[in-house]
Amino acid sequence: MQEVSLNWSRKRQTVQWLCFVLFLLSLTPHAFNRNLNSVCRKIEFVPDRTESVILGEIVSISLGETEIMNFTEKEYPFSVNWLIPKNYQHFSAFSFALNEINQNTHLLPNISLRYIIGNNNFNAVLTSQNTLELLERHQGNPTNYNCNSKKTVMAVIGALSSQNSIQMANVLTNYKIPQLSYGSFDPVLSDKIKFPFFYRMVPSENPQYVGIVQLLKHFGWTWVGLLTSNDESGESFLQTLRPRLLQNSICLAFTQMMPILLNVSPEKILDGIFSSLWLYEVNVILVHGDILSMDKLRMMLLEYESDDLPPMQRVWIITAQWDFTAVIAWDGFPAQSLNGTLSFDLHTKVVPGFEEFLDRIGPVNVPFILDFWQTSFKCSFPEFNQLSTNLPLCTGEEKLRNLPGSVFEMRMSGHSYSIYNAAYAVAHALHALHSSVVKWRATSHGDRWKFGDIQPWQLNSFLRKVRFNNSAGDEIFFDENGELATGYDLINTIAFANESFQRVQIGKIDLQAPLGHDFTINRSAIVWNPKFKQVVPSSTCVKSCQPGFSKIVLEGKEVCCYSCSQCPEGRISVQIDVDQCQKCPEDQYPNQKQDRCIPRSIDFLSYGELLGAALASLALLSSLATIMVMRLFVLHWDTPIVKANNRNIICTLLASLLLGFLCSFLFIGQPGELTCLLRQTVFGITFSISISCVLAKTITVVLVFMATKPGNSIMKWAGKRLAMSVITLCSLIQMAICTIWIATSPPFPELDMHSQVSQITVQCNEGSEVMFYLVLGYMGFLAIISFTVAFFARNLPDSFNEAKLITFSMFVFCSVWVSFVPTYLSTKGKFMVAVEIFSILASNAGLLGCIFFSKCYIILVRPHLNSREQLVRKENGPS
Ligand SMILES: *[C@@H]1O[C@H](CO)[C@@H](O)[C@H](O)[C@H]1NC(C)=O
Ligand SMILES: *[C@@H]1O[C@H](CO)[C@@H](O)[C@H](O)[C@H]1NC(C)=O
Ligand SMILES: *[C@@H]1O[C@H](CO)[C@@H](O)[C@H](O)[C@H]1NC(C)=O
Ligand SMILES: *[C@@H]1O[C@H](CO)[C@@H](O)[C@H](O)[C@H]1NC(C)=O
Ligand SMILES: *[C@@H]1O[C@H](CO)[C@@H](O)[C@H](O)[C@H]1NC(C)=O
Ligand SMILES: *[C@@H]1O[C@H](CO)[C@@H](O)[C@H](O)[C@H]1NC(C)=O
Repeated sequence: MQEVSLNWSRKRQTVQWLCFVLFLLSLTPHAFNRNLNSVCRKIEFVPDRTESVILGEIVSISLGETEIMNFTEKEYPFSVNWLIPKNYQHFSAFSFALNEINQNTHLLPNISLRYIIGNNNFNAVLTSQNTLELLERHQGNPTNYNCNSKKTVMAVIGALSSQNSIQMANVLTNYKIPQLSYGSFDPVLSDKIKFPFFYRMVPSENPQYVGIVQLLKHFGWTWVGLLTSNDESGESFLQTLRPRLLQNSICLAFTQMMPILLNVSPEKILDGIFSSLWLYEVNVILVHGDILSMDKLRMMLLEYESDDLPPMQRVWIITAQWDFTAVIAWDGFPAQSLNGTLSFDLHTKVVPGFEEFLDRIGPVNVPFILDFWQTSFKCSFPEFNQLSTNLPLCTGEEKLRNLPGSVFEMRMSGHSYSIYNAAYAVAHALHALHSSVVKWRATSHGDRWKFGDIQPWQLNSFLRKVRFNNSAGDEIFFDENGELATGYDLINTIAFANESFQRVQIGKIDLQAPLGHDFTINRSAIVWNPKFKQVVPSSTCVKSCQPGFSKIVLEGKEVCCYSCSQCPEGRISVQIDVDQCQKCPEDQYPNQKQDRCIPRSIDFLSYGELLGAALASLALLSSLATIMVMRLFVLHWDTPIVKANNRNIICTLLASLLLGFLCSFLFIGQPGELTCLLRQTVFGITFSISISCVLAKTITVVLVFMATKPGNSIMKWAGKRLAMSVITLCSLIQMAICTIWIATSPPFPELDMHSQVSQITVQCNEGSEVMFYLVLGYMGFLAIISFTVAFFARNLPDSFNEAKLITFSMFVFCSVWVSFVPTYLSTKGKFMVAVEIFSILASNAGLLGCIFFSKCYIILVRPHLNSREQLVRKENGPS
């Protein structure tokens, strides 16, 4: 239907026009009079006592083909299908603002603002033509109508699209007339050297890029489609957005350029675009472009809905460039497809009085207003309309409020709000200029000078500094680029079947806010398209990698279409889709699923566990046994078997054996600084004493044997002395070694993080391995000496086979410690400690058992052997 109307309209010469309107503060419906001369006369009718200033506005209310404006053409084409009724609000907001300003007794008192309006049909050539025309008429160089007014247009508000704004700026800059755009985002216009008189009531595009990326990131949408307009603006959008998306690992599943509506649009191109919408199963589609290119999209979606095809229900993200709720004439709105759309919108607020103003508005005798009225209300003004239609006559009493939302809305749109603010900005600047003029006039000149004589360029410096609060409570001022320093609102639109809309602000992007707070969103406020059943839609190329896995980029594929691999051992990933797995902190270790770190427990040989308890009770039993042996010997202190041995040595040996058993308790429990210090040293010293006792005992045996030879009684005495000195000397050497150890590199407790995955072992660091093995080696040395001596003396006759017993005990002792070393070296953590305790207990028990068991046996079970006679008999036996 659209195509048909296009042809129909193309055939007719769409005559472009510039109309200008003058309101003398009254907005009551005028009598229909299309004679432009009479409008001009109204300008002259302005009472002379009030000075007036003229502002211009260029609006884009209809679409049309390229036409040179011809002022002599009095007819206005009836082009119902090409009007965008919603944009009529841009004009209403302007007249509303001027109306308010003119009634305001504080702002520009005694000066009335008037306006002149041009419609540019979204057309760049026409825009500059119109702008020029509009200026010339008021520069006193008119072609046709001079209205006897030499008034200058002080400022121009416009235009809607960037292209048109640039065209206007090129013209207006030459005339040094300030221009305030309400819908152009193009960064080119930020160039203050090229366009010193350009201001814009909208933020630049930059916050929108930030917002888009943040929004996609927020919901994890990494696989999105993009539709842009096939023009410079779409090109630069893509150029700017693509690297930002790449940085955040977001990929474009497809990119399609929508042809401009007015250009010939081969069906093929559109078919390609729409099949890619189906082909790629993306849930999120980003749309950038203005109504010129995107109205095709609306028509296509509408077609799907009206045919039996399933509606294209997606998450549409639409940039501020397209007011997607606006339709051309009564064409219809694809409410099912675009339900739940997220859009970046210009900031707007409820302006008090605006809806009441719209309620009072009626058709005015101006072609485009009449056209608007006819199109929106589907009626006709017979005088105005050249075509014969079947439509009912317009009464002029129709109410805008009753129109569906896609045709007209009472809520002030972002563009209208910008126009409203622009008008106020000019008024405030004029006010400031006026005040300074009044001051200047009072001092130097008479009052012959009129305010109307000021030139537009004089306004520029005041406009730059303007700062005020508007009636909606927003503070309006320009930044150094002449842009409004705001961001965008993120709007969620719910569309109803009756073409009314409900908009909810769900977030905003404000680059003035501190970093990290520049993008805010309220997820719970979003109403998604019914297709998604209120579940947050996802849009990714592949299923995301679960915790415990990391992404692997596949060669030859988009970064978003990765695959997943399990984290390597010892590493974890907590979130989904991580690039790399991480290590746990030192005091934690990964759980089985590798998605969490668990604290490591502290590990040491404790009394609480079986091994610790067993070893401790063994040590305790052994100590008790030693004590009992001691007790037994004390009780039988004077019996021959005790006396036959050197009683000092026996006592020292038993004491050191007891200490040896007890020192194993130093090895059980959590090691502290003191226990680490004491462990090996106490162990080393007590064992050295034990072995030196055994050595001394062996020497005594040898000496006693020699003493039994006649004339060697001195030996007996010397033997005792020698024994004690051997013990003292040998122990002192070990003590010296231990002292050096402690003085140079003392053992200390440490945490072993590495030997066990799930536990941290608390252990003693020996400080110096060399010293540790020196202590052990010295003990071994002593043991080997006593073993050797005892071995050679094993056949010497003595009372109780002493030498044999010592040989055997040393054999046991040495075997224990020889097997200790390799076992010790091959174990870790607490088992290392357990091995050492076991060796201590075993070797000590060996000594105790071998040397003392037979003696105890005799004392307890065979007391008759424990007599002097027996001793003597035995001693003399062999000889
Ligand atoms: C404007 O239109 C009139 C009548 O259609 C025509 O005579 C005139 O040449 C046109 N002027 C321009 C500048 O096109
Ligand atoms: C406005 O005009 C009135 C009447 O002419 C005059 O009394 C008043 O002082 C003027 N106000 C200003 C601010 O010029
Ligand atoms: C606008 O209003 C805010 C808060 O009410 C105030 O802080 C600010 O000074 C006002 N600005 C101007 C220019 O009046
Ligand atoms: C849009 O979604 C809302 C909320 O789910 C629903 O109430 C409404 O009927 C939907 N509109 C259409 C046209 O389906
Ligand atoms: C359209 O429908 C919605 C919900 O069904 C309702 O709230 C709204 O008032 C309707 N609008 C009009 C203009 O009928
Ligand atoms: C988010 O939206 C929900 C639902 O509309 C509302 O209840 C809640 O207060 C909002 N939260 C914030 C922080 O605005």
